[in-house]
Amino acid sequence: TMKVSDIKAIAEIAKNNNIMLVVDNTFLTPYFQMPLKLGADIVIHSATKYIAGHNNATGGVAIGSKSFTEKAFILRKNMGVILSPFDAWIMTIGVKTLPLRMEKHNENAMKIAKFLEKHEKIEKVLYPGLASHPQYETSKKQSTGSGGMLAFEIKGGIEAGKKLIDNVELCVLEGNLGDVCTLIQHPASMTHAVISKEERLKIGITDGMVRLSVGIEDADDIINDLEQALKKV
Ligand SMILES: Cc1ncc(COP(=O)(O)O)c(C=O)c1O
Repeated sequence: TMKVSDIKAIAEIAKNNNIMLVVDNTFLTPYFQMPLKLGADIVIHSATKYIAGHNNATGGVAIGSKSFTEKAFILRKNMGVILSPFDAWIMTIGVKTLPLRMEKHNENAMKIAKFLEKHEKIEKVLYPGLASHPQYETSKKQSTGSGGMLAFEIKGGIEAGKKLIDNVELCVLEGNLGDVCTLIQHPASMTHAVISKEERLKIGITDGMVRLSVGIEDADDIINDLEQALKKV
């Protein structure tokens, strides 16, 4: 739902109550946001997403103080959740282009968000880089970019959402995120279809909500694809 949390404010509450703050920084990566500097105790990433960047490896990262990483290291060893050499190799290659990719994801997402915001078939666009985003100021304060993730609500509910994802040609229908290719998914009919509409609405997932993980293609190609698919809705 693209809600942005105020990390500094939450870190202060956590500290005052002796609670450890863990931030999942998968969407923005260290390139755009550094939660440890904002007061978090631990930062985690699904490295499967932007860190590897090509939808071809699975892994994760946990960063924190020495006392935390020493304990985590033992736990990881005892549980056997060791990154495979192949995935590790893929990630060391992928991460080298992280800054270039993140800049392009960010630039493309902004262009697409602006295109969608003006489209007659779109009710609402949720992208933290847009001044219309409810936490735009928080996002600007704590991140140096807004990344490649955005959500939008298409008019016409569940059927319209399904029609859109059935008609895209360049965007890839997929629940993952952080790939160089643009990935599209419709939570109400895909990832969140197993929970009731009431439960979905409680967490802000409307029937017409579509999520885009904007890739690094030419932004106009992505816009043209969305435009032609929207015509069929
Ligand atoms: C924000 C975020 N963090 C973590 C994960 C977990 O990813 P993985 O399956 O690579 O562990 C996901 C998966 O979709 C995610 O979206």
